[in-house]
Amino acid sequence: MTKRIGILTGGGDAPGLNAVIRAVVLTAKRRYGWDVIGILEGFDGLYQGLLTIPLDESRVRDLLPRGGTILGAANRGNPFAQRVEKIDGTVEYVDGSQHALDRIAELELDALIVAGGDGTMAIAHKLVLMGAKIVGVPKTIDNDLNETDVTFGFDTALTTATEALDKLQTTAESHHRAMVLEVMGRHAGWIALTTGVAGGADAILIPEIPFDINVVCDKIQRLQASGRRYSLIVVAEGARPVDGEKSYYIKGEGRSEGRLGGMGNMVGRMLADCVSAEVRVTVLGHLQRGGQPTARDRWLATRFGSSAVHLVAQEKWGYMVALQGTQMVNIPMEQAIKMKVVDPKGDMVQMALDLGIVFG
Ligand code: F6P
Repeated sequence: MTKRIGILTGGGDAPGLNAVIRAVVLTAKRRYGWDVIGILEGFDGLYQGLLTIPLDESRVRDLLPRGGTILGAANRGNPFAQRVEKIDGTVEYVDGSQHALDRIAELELDALIVAGGDGTMAIAHKLVLMGAKIVGVPKTIDNDLNETDVTFGFDTALTTATEALDKLQTTAESHHRAMVLEVMGRHAGWIALTTGVAGGADAILIPEIPFDINVVCDKIQRLQASGRRYSLIVVAEGARPVDGEKSYYIKGEGRSEGRLGGMGNMVGRMLADCVSAEVRVTVLGHLQRGGQPTARDRWLATRFGSSAVHLVAQEKWGYMVALQGTQMVNIPMEQAIKMKVVDPKGDMVQMALDLGIVFG
């Protein structure tokens, strides 16, 4: 029987989302003969009743190398907590989840595929408990979703960050400077750790290991004394000093989490007070989320998208596709919602320590 499936991309974007959309459309059409429609702007588009777009083979033809998502994404959209500004200026959060379910029925969707991170999977899981037929595809450049070895977008982000660190290294060496590179990673230091090791950093500061700046200063001073007159420090945006807090440039309000920013500069200022070298800071920001996905991310996104369609065929509602080892598996969404963070006592951190990298 012909099915009609919807797809939406939730949360922040990640390189590879368009490759997922393409794989879903091609697999649905060629393997099963099903139709696919795209829901715009993540969950917002669902419960606010925005337009949908039919996705046929011609619409997805050029998508594989394209960054972003042709469907648009809404980082804050949550049908269970719709932000409503009242006339008196106060803000209220209302449950609009029934609108989302009604919209799925109105669009006559036999299934919905959602590509997103922990927030998206948490919403999808709750909608499934209310009867929605949803399967998930894990996405985030932060690579912090549990139960999948890796998420697509991560490889592109760390490739961008490593290229940046390589470039900083050459100018650091010319000017004998200490270069701080701030990378993304709210709760998990995967981008910082991997970039730091791949780019030969001397210090890596991650959310999982609150840092003592004196340890970093000491490392830089020892390098100087040994004749290595430059140093590279990678800082995750969510890192914090042992005796301090994370740095936000916009504080969280109500249910919104707040926007991290400023830790790279804070570390730069702290280092300027304790090292003899000049210090410079680079904040990489959203460059890590943009641009063409790497071949590895295209490959993973395509496997995920295709597998998600098979999950629909098996009617495995509430499941998410995942990569474990070399195998595509499927796991209940609620297991993925738990965050996967760097183990401070694990072998990866130990390896970096063995190489002489300090974590503060
Ligand atoms: O979760 C992915 C991520 O890129 C984080 O690393 C970062 O803190 C956040 O999204 C940025 O979100 P926004 O695009 O809303 O600034």
